[in-house]
Amino acid sequence: MIYAQILAGGKGTRMGNVPMPKQFLTLADKPILIHTIEKFVLESRFDAILVVCPADWLSHTQDLIKKYISDERVHVVTGGSERNETLMKGIEYIQENYGSHDDDIVVTHDAVRPFITQRIINDNIEAALKHAAVDTVVPAIDTIVQGTEGKIDDIPVRSTMYQGQTPQSFNIKTLVNSYNALTDAQKATLSDSCKICLLAGEEVTMVRGENYNFKITTPYDLRVASALVETRD
Ligand code: CTP
Repeated sequence: MIYAQILAGGKGTRMGNVPMPKQFLTLADKPILIHTIEKFVLESRFDAILVVCPADWLSHTQDLIKKYISDERVHVVTGGSERNETLMKGIEYIQENYGSHDDDIVVTHDAVRPFITQRIINDNIEAALKHAAVDTVVPAIDTIVQGTEGKIDDIPVRSTMYQGQTPQSFNIKTLVNSYNALTDAQKATLSDSCKICLLAGEEVTMVRGENYNFKITTPYDLRVASALVETRD
């Protein structure tokens, strides 16, 4: 089975003083989250599409989906306090409702990256059917500098540097086994899901993202997204 999981369980604190988590803010004519779900329902190979949201926003999310999306594959699930906890709540829902098979894969995506394309979704599915873990990346444009306490420790060769985006896609059994092997401290601090697999010694394959598949994080990003959506739709 092939699943999609849209991670919408965050608070969006870096968006500043807004009345709701940023995934529910309006971009052009509808919530950011709806733009993102619309891209996923276009892919017919998904058997189920989970939208994992904060507990307090469950009924709001269900109402939005009823209003904007008519696709029975879409299900709303309650997330967790950390991003990876949200991811694993979605996986639990999949295993409880659809069982568990060795070749099951999940394509996980940030709700706040509404400019994902069908090409990126397709490349993730194809790669995850062949490899245990897949990350979507773009080559670093700026030089990446590593530093602590105001001093540079290293300047890695730029041609080997990438910026991680989503989707991140996984063979579900590999992801669950890798997550279960983490310590509680690792589970609490890891913000990246592919690193779950890296720490477990799994290979993570890269697929090409796009610069416009950016994460809406700050008010500036929302302004850029608004300008972009006017010219792309
Ligand atoms: N996310 C999630 N569950 C969490 C935290 C984050 O599903 N507990 C999701 C967010 O909803 C978002 C994506 O992961 O779609 C990327 O999150 P990010 O923007 O880094 O974090 P937020 O918590 O949403 O924002 P902030 O860090 O500014 O508070």
